[in-house]
This record gives sequence, structure tokens and C-alpha cells, in this order.
Amino acid sequence: MSTNKTIIITGGAGFIGSHVVRRFVNNYPQYKIINLDKLTYAGNLANLTDIEKAPNYIFEKGDICDVAFVDALFQKYTPDAVIHLAAESHVDRSIANPVEFVMTNVVGTVTLLNAARHAWKGAYDTHRFYHVSTDEVYGALGAEGMFTETTAYDPHSPYSASKASSDHFVRAYHDTYGMDCVISNCSNNYGSHHFPEKLIPLSINNIKNMKPIPVYGKGENVRDWLWVEDHARAIDDIFHKAKTGKTYNIGGHNEWTNIDLIHLLCKIMDKKLNRAEGTSAALITFVTDRAGHDLRYAIDATTLKEELGWLPSLQFEEGLEKTVDWYLENEEWLNNVTSGAYQKYYENQYN
Ligand code: NAD
Ligand code: DAU
Repeated sequence: MSTNKTIIITGGAGFIGSHVVRRFVNNYPQYKIINLDKLTYAGNLANLTDIEKAPNYIFEKGDICDVAFVDALFQKYTPDAVIHLAAESHVDRSIANPVEFVMTNVVGTVTLLNAARHAWKGAYDTHRFYHVSTDEVYGALGAEGMFTETTAYDPHSPYSASKASSDHFVRAYHDTYGMDCVISNCSNNYGSHHFPEKLIPLSINNIKNMKPIPVYGKGENVRDWLWVEDHARAIDDIFHKAKTGKTYNIGGHNEWTNIDLIHLLCKIMDKKLNRAEGTSAALITFVTDRAGHDLRYAIDATTLKEELGWLPSLQFEEGLEKTVDWYLENEEWLNNVTSGAYQKYYENQYN
């Protein structure tokens, strides 16, 4: 790949994508960064106001399933690489509407792969396709063990099944056509600009508004939480240093049951909002469990550490406080994304 790269980052207006776009725009002024995003309910250009005028940043609104649009974009920019994050990302929505997940996550990924295959033909060794995926493809763990890069795929939700399928297609394009493809599978992210349908931002918003905090089942499910900027840094490292065809697991070494996490969040929110201790915890409400709810995820990120020297940087308590601060300081952002369609989604999902 050339040193002055042109990179298409898909899903750059979403939660993780916006952190990746910001990092690449700021750290690599010699690169041209094209943010390709459909701006679904989860895509928000307000996530990128700080870099939107940067000379090395371009936004293109479009759908990764639109063959003509994607082909034309490859012709227009002749990109050296794609970092692919665009996806339908919420498990609960995938249970309600699986087909949308097949379209974006499977068909959209194959549409991008195909455009890259044609555009880069004869020069696969100088062009890279980096697919950002999830630890959910590995299924669920019991009390012991961790996911490694060789754990067999065993997805349970329509979301994880669609991501698993997209991973298989990426590997197939590497094996069949010789394209330079890399994949990473990451655990749960948290931090700023996270859409409040996911556990942490939803709970922050509800606590702020003194609304019930819906905890699925008994709150015993375990997730391995990673600061989103650490994920963006891992993506940067993998994009620049990984050997072709490699897969890396990315995780926080930071396992929490949902109920313990919520209690910690309640403690932080009581302090930040000057409320009496226990005020927020009184909002905890156990609700019907998610169908097919995976019990535990835990990532073994040893390969990433040993090969590329990556380690998470933030302790969870510190990261969670920073996250709460961001949401309390960005009330307008939060109000904008929780008005309109969000209210209908919330009612269908929780009432
Ligand atoms: P998100 O839902 O916040 O953002 C997804 C983005 O993709 C949005 O900007 C949306 O507008 C865009 N998009 C959706 N459909 C599109 C389409 N058809 N064409 C173009 N753009 C489209 O998601 P996120 O949480 O930031 O996740 C980003 C990626 O990282 C996903 O691939 C997800 O599977 C993966 N991932 C997420 C996590 C996590 O904890 N959030 C963990 C591991 C992996
Ligand atoms: O593991 C990586 C995955 O993490 C990503 O691939 C997904 O895109 C991302 O959404 C996330 O999936 P989860 O399903 O783990 O995240 P979510 O925030 O939806 O839920 C976290 C845990 O909290 C999970 O055990 C379900 C539970 N939960 C969630 C919600 C929204 C609740 O108890 N109540 C809720 O209201």
C-alpha cells in the first residue's frame, strides 16, 4: 500500500466508526478518508462535527448494498483500502427484524468485497480489505474459558449469525481470489457517542431521567467491556501491521455481570448527579430475558498483544466515569437521538 492512502471507512457515522474516522483523520493527515454511511437511525453526523471540515475527510451518503453506488465510489476514489464497520449492530433489533441484518451485514459486505475484487484485480497485494467483526460469532461461554482466534463459530442470534456469515465471505474472498483481507473480532465496546439502545448508554439516559433500568433475566450474563478508543487503536494497529489473511481477537480483559455493571453505574451516577446513594439503584427493574441470550463472552487477546504489542489502556471505572461525564455534558446529542423514532422503538421493546 502507498504511504498516501485513500481509505473508505464504512459506517463511520456510527458509534465505533466515528472513533475510527476521527483517529485516522487526525493521526494520518497524509491519508484521504472517505466515510461511507447510509445514516440509518444509528448513523449520526453530529458524531463527527470536530473533524468534518478537515481537508483529508470526505463524507459520502450511500448504502453498501447498492451495487451501482458502491462500484461508482470505487471508480471515483480508487481507494487503497476499505475498513468495513457498517452494519446493523443491535441484537434485540435482529430478533425483531432478521432480514435487515442479512441485507446489510451479509449482502452489503459481499457487495463491498465484490467491488474491491473488480477494482483491485491484479494488485491485491497493494490493497487491503479490513473487516470489523464481533466476538458474538463464537457463541456463548460457560463459567470458564475464553474465545481465541481458533474457537469454532457458533452464533445464536440473527445478528451474530449475519456477522459470522460476513466473516466467512471475507475469508472466502481471501482464499479464492487472493485478496488481502484481515478480520478482527472484538468484545463489547463502551464510551462516547454510543446509541442509547445498548445497555450502558440506555441505562445512563434512564437514570438521568429517573426511569426504570431494564435488566434482562437476572442480570447474570457476562460481557467483556472495552473502551471504544482502545478498539479504534487496535484497528489502526491491525490495519497497518497485520499479515494478510490474519484474524485478531480484541478484548478488554474486563468481565462484568450486567447487574454488577449496573450497580457500579448507579453509584457513579448518584455521585455525578448529587443524588442520595441508592437513588439510581432503586430504578433497577428485572424484565423478560432476551431470547437466545448468550451467557458469557470473554476474549483472549494474547495474539494481538504478542504480535502487535496492543493492550487496553483504561481501567473500567475510569472509562465508565468518563462515559457518564460525556453523556451529561452532551445533553443535546442525547435528546436528539432519543426523540422521534427512538420512543417508538423503546415502547415496542420494553412495554
Ligand atoms: P452502530 O450501529 O453504532 O453503527 C453502524 C453504522 O453503520 C451507522 O452509522 C449506520 O448508519 C451504518 N450503516 C448501517 N447500515 C448501512 C448500510 N446498509 N450502508 C451504509 N451504512 C450503513 O454500530 P457500532 O456499534 O459502531 O458497530 C460498528 C461495527 O463494529 C459493526 O460491524 C459491529 O458488528 C462491530 N462491533 C461492534 C461492537 C460493539 O460493542 N458495538 C463490538 C464488536 C464489533
Ligand atoms: O460482544 C460484542 C457485541 O456487543 C457487538 O457485536 C454488538 O454490536 C453490541 O451491540 C454488543 O452486543 P450485546 O448484546 O452484548 O450488547 P447490549 O448492550 O445490547 O447488551 C449488553 C448486555 O446487557 C447483554 O447481556 C444484554 C443486556 N441488556 C441489554 C439491554 C439493551 C439488558 O439487560 N437490558 C437491556 O435493556
